[in-house]
Amino acid sequence: MIKLDHISNVFNKGMQNEVVALDDISLQIQDAEFVVLIGANGSGKTTLLNCIAGAIKPSSGKIVIDGHDVTGLPEYKRSKWIARVFQNPNHGTAPELSILDNFRLAALRTKHKGLRIGTHAKFKNEVAEKVKSLCMGLEKKLSQNMGNLSGGQRQALTLLMSVMDDTHILLLDEPTAALDPKSAALIMNLAEKLNREMGMITLLITHNIRDAHHYGTRLIQMQEGKIVKDIPKLEKAVLAVEDMYKWFG
Ligand SMILES: Nc1ncnc2c1ncn2[C@@H]1O[C@H](COP(=O)(O)OP(=O)(O)OP(=O)(O)O)[C@@H](O)[C@H]1O
Ligand SMILES: [Mg+2]
Repeated sequence: MIKLDHISNVFNKGMQNEVVALDDISLQIQDAEFVVLIGANGSGKTTLLNCIAGAIKPSSGKIVIDGHDVTGLPEYKRSKWIARVFQNPNHGTAPELSILDNFRLAALRTKHKGLRIGTHAKFKNEVAEKVKSLCMGLEKKLSQNMGNLSGGQRQALTLLMSVMDDTHILLLDEPTAALDPKSAALIMNLAEKLNREMGMITLLITHNIRDAHHYGTRLIQMQEGKIVKDIPKLEKAVLAVEDMYKWFG
């Protein structure tokens, strides 16, 4: 469970360009919830994810993950529980290394589910098996550099790699923004599968209203650093996409 307790974050405090990016946010996310976060540009969505991941220490408030107060814990110490995928497909992998070596790095970061580094051939087979599940034919290209893949291929691999043994929180910041509709659908379905099969807490930021309507078990809208709507599963299930468009009037 993730618990945010009165989280505020002010950038450039006391200066002319002071911004209150998060304004007293309190929120509890239960295990296996799939929360979709929407809101206008600059409403604080990325800042919220950064606070959960530990990339930003909030100006005030407390963050608790599975009963542990992690407010002061740096990002690298949280990364064994938290996987992140960003808008830019180049973020999160090493472009100059092969697909296989990227998996090797990911496996070293923390133990990969069902993946043990072991011998080269065994590891390669295990990676190939995982990559095959994407149905992109990439299992035949494991020695190809990540940098030579398309954005959609890289996002799919990043998502697959990010899911480690201890990882149970998946933070997705507009992961499909740079992708064509087919690749975007593949990434969204993969995120949903990971959430469903591994029970990962999933937090997705998207500007795609149809995705926000279709995916997830809870819908949160932010505005000027505050949560202005928090729609639970049953209400979300009967929500019309047309109504959602009206929220952005
Ligand atoms: N490092 C920073 N320094 C100063 N201000 C920042 C910083 N990061 C974000 N901000 C400001 O905080 C506010 C919230 O930004 P944030 O990136 O969280 O918005 P967002 O909801 O993710 O927007 P978008 O949909 O455009 O990605 C904005 O006004 C932004 O300009
Ligand atoms: Mg953002």
